[in-house]
This record gives sequence, C-alpha cells and structure tokens, in this order.
Amino acid sequence: MASSTLLEPLLTTDQIQSRTRELAREIARDFGSEPILMVAILKGSFLFLADLIREFGDNVMVDFVMISSYGDGTESSGNVQIRKDLDINIEGKNVLIVEDIVDTGATLSHLCELLQTRRPKALKVVALLSKPMARKQHAPLDYVGFEIPNEFVVGYGLDHAERYRNLPYIAILSGLTP
Ligand code: XMP
Ligand code: MG
Repeated sequence: MASSTLLEPLLTTDQIQSRTRELAREIARDFGSEPILMVAILKGSFLFLADLIREFGDNVMVDFVMISSYGDGTESSGNVQIRKDLDINIEGKNVLIVEDIVDTGATLSHLCELLQTRRPKALKVVALLSKPMARKQHAPLDYVGFEIPNEFVVGYGLDHAERYRNLPYIAILSGLTP
C-alpha cells in the first residue's frame, strides 16, 4: 500500500542553529565559569546536544540516559521507564538535562524527580521544543528553543518509528494511519 504521509516543514536548519546559539549564550551566562554536566535524553536529543555542546568551551561533560514512554506510536503512554541510566555520579555537579521535545511533561517530571534524589548542585533543563497545549504534568523548563503546536513532529533527531531522525530540519508529520 502506498504511504500518504506528508512532511510539512516547521523549523528550518537556520532557525534551529541560530536559536541553539542563543540558548547556549543564556546557559553559559547563567552557569558562569562553572563546569556543566549535560545529560541528554536518548535518542531524540542527539543532534541538538551535538550542536549545543559545540557552542561551549572545555568545561562541559556529557552523559546519556534513555527513557521510554512512547513505543512506536505517536502518543505518550505516560508509563515512563529508565532504559539506560547515567554513568557519571552527579552529586555536587551542575547538571543540565538536554531534551528534544516536551509533550505531556511525564518524561521530564519523572527524570527531574529521580535526579534530584542524587543531590546535584544545580539541576536545569533545556528543551529544543515544547508543546504547551499537550502538557499534563508540570515540567520544570529553564530554557526552551521553540513553542510549537500540538502536532507530531519529526527530523533533527526526532523520529517516527525510528525514521526521519536524519532530516536536517523539523517537520510536522501528517497523514499517519491511526
Ligand atoms: P512527554 O509526553 O513525556 O514526551 O513529555 C516526551 C518524549 O516524547 C517524545 N515525543 C515526540 N517524538 N515527535 C517525536 O518524534 C513528537 O512530536 C513528539 N512528542 C513527544 C520524545 O521522545 C520526548 O522525549
Ligand atoms: Mg522518540
């Protein structure tokens, strides 16, 4: 059967890059000269992380967590599970969670709660995208790239069933069969 899915461009590569540089400047200003441990949530944030860290000097460390709440569908299940935990001990460190997109807020509120129990010096969150209309739980966002409508988006790390992560821009994916 022929696929009738459609990619409708939402954010260009240039828009993403210049907003990422602005976010990096804000973050660097707030943390000053102190080292930052960036904790990226796999897999969706890998390109955002890659562009963000290159705006910083040599006082940045990186670690990853993998969390699942979606499966292959386009609706959050609300059932948040840690599938890969941090390698680095965050006690006493400045931690910045790097997230691709905040939807219901379930992933972030769960992760922040967990990481706070490990006594970081500071815990902040940057998300490239936020869908405010989809929020069901409070998600403590310190830095947001773009607020977007409540549509399913792909590209620049974001997938649908593992496809489209390599698109250099962000697009609304429509025409999905339910
Ligand atoms: P919650 O609901 O926990 O969701 O805030 C956050 C996670 O859900 C994924 N997500 C998306 N992935 N296009 C995607 O490719 C989307 O429009 C979308 N909305 C949410 C994403 O993995 C995020 O970490
Ligand atoms: Mg995903």
